[in-house]
Amino acid sequence: MAAVASVTAYDLAVTAPAARRSKATPPRRVNGVPVYEQEFWTSKQRQANPLHEVSYRGCFKPQLPAYFIDRLSKPGDLIYDPFSGRGTTAVEAALMGRNVAANDINPLSAILTLPRLEVPLIANIDVRLRAIKVSAKLKNDIDLSMFYHPDTERELLNLRAYLQQRRDSGAEDAADRWIRMVATNRLTGHSPGFFSTYTLPPNQAVSPESQIRINEKTGKDPEYRDVRALILRKSMQLQSDINAAARWRLQQAAERAQFLEGSAGCSTTLADDSVQLTVTSPPFLNVVQYAKDNWLRCWFNSLDAEAIGAGITMATSVNEWSEVMLEVLQELYRVTRPKGWVAFEVGEVQRGSVNLDEAVVPLAQQAGFRVEAILINTQKFTKTSNIWGIGNNALGTNSNRIVMLQKPA
Ligand SMILES: C[S@@+](CC[C@H](N)C(=O)[O-])C[C@H]1O[C@@H](n2cnc3c(N)ncnc32)[C@H](O)[C@@H]1O
Repeated sequence: MAAVASVTAYDLAVTAPAARRSKATPPRRVNGVPVYEQEFWTSKQRQANPLHEVSYRGCFKPQLPAYFIDRLSKPGDLIYDPFSGRGTTAVEAALMGRNVAANDINPLSAILTLPRLEVPLIANIDVRLRAIKVSAKLKNDIDLSMFYHPDTERELLNLRAYLQQRRDSGAEDAADRWIRMVATNRLTGHSPGFFSTYTLPPNQAVSPESQIRINEKTGKDPEYRDVRALILRKSMQLQSDINAAARWRLQQAAERAQFLEGSAGCSTTLADDSVQLTVTSPPFLNVVQYAKDNWLRCWFNSLDAEAIGAGITMATSVNEWSEVMLEVLQELYRVTRPKGWVAFEVGEVQRGSVNLDEAVVPLAQQAGFRVEAILINTQKFTKTSNIWGIGNNALGTNSNRIVMLQKPA
C-alpha cells in the first residue's frame, strides 16, 4: 500500500479485495474523472462490529468508512462526518484508533453516537438499571397506549423522567448516556426485542393513528415488555465484540471527540487544515419525512421534532441540492489538511435517472478539490439500505457511489 499522502485513485480501486483490474484496462471517465465499478467491500454485514447495530434511516454500512479509513489515514488522524446520522463513520474511526469529529443538525445523532465511544462496562449498566425506580405512576403527556402495554409505558415514563432529571441536574454520566442511547433505539420495532407492539422497523415510528390500524390488522394488543431487561440484553449484543483494547481505543477517541450540532454548510468550530479524511453521506433530495419518522425518539429525548425537521436539507431539485452541497464542500475544503481526502457518498435517486455523483464533480472542483475518482460499489441488497429513506425492496438502489476528493498540497 502506498503512503497515505500519495495514494492515487488507481490505488483506491485496485487494492480492493475483489479487484480484477489491471493498469492495462483504462476505466471509463465522466467529465474526465475515472469511474471504477465493482464490489469494493464485502456485503456480509455480519463482519462489522456489532457496536454499529443501532438503526438509523439512511445509514451506510460500517464497511464503507472502514474501506477509506484504512487506506487514507493512519492512527491518530482526525476523521470527520458532517452528516453523521447514527455515527457510523465516527464509531468505525474510533474502533480503528483514529480521532473523530461528527456533526449533524439532529441532536439525536450525538445521543446515538457518543455513548458508543465511552462504552460503560455491562456490569455498571446492570447496576445502574437496577437502581432506576420504574414503578411510580406518572402521567403521560401523549397517548401511547397503541404502542405500549400500560406497565411497559409506566416503566418507560419513569426511565425518561430519571434520564431527564440526571441531565438537568448535571449528574448524567456515561452509564446514563448509554442507557438513553439503547432505550432510544428500542422504542419501536417489529420484534419482541423492542418495547412496542409489532410495528415498522425501529428507525421509522408510525403515527398513533397508523399504529391503531396496524393493531387492528394484527388483532393484537401491546404485550408487556420488561424495559430494563431489554436494555441490558441489547447492551450485551452491542458490546459482544468489544475487548479491552477496543474499549481503550474508543475511550481515547471519546476524550478527544468533537461533536457539533449544526448545518453542515455553515462554518464549524473545526480548525483549518485539521481533518485527514471525511467520509460522509448527505441527504439525497427530499426522500425522507424526517420530523415525522423520528417523532417518538424525539419525544423520549424531549426534543422538538418539528423544529429539527425544519433545519434538515430537503432539496426538491438537483439545483437546490447543489446550492447546499457547494457550501458543504467549501467548508470541507477549509477543514481538510493539504493532501487530505473526502469520500462523498451519494446514491442513485429517482430510479437512477439522477446521478448525484456527477452533480458533485463540478461543485467539488469549484470548492478547490481535485476530483480523483468515482467509486461505484455494487452489491446485492442486504439488511441495511444504502439510500436514505427508501426501503430495500422499494425504489432504492443497491450501489454506493462515492466521489473521491483530494485537497491539493
Ligand atoms: C444519509 S443520513 C447520514 C447517515 C450516516 N452516514 C449514518 O451512517 O448514519 C443524512 C444525515 O444528515 C443530517 N442532515 C440533514 N440535513 C443536514 C444539514 N443541513 N446539516 C447537517 N446535517 C444534516 C440528517 O439529520 C441525517 O442524520
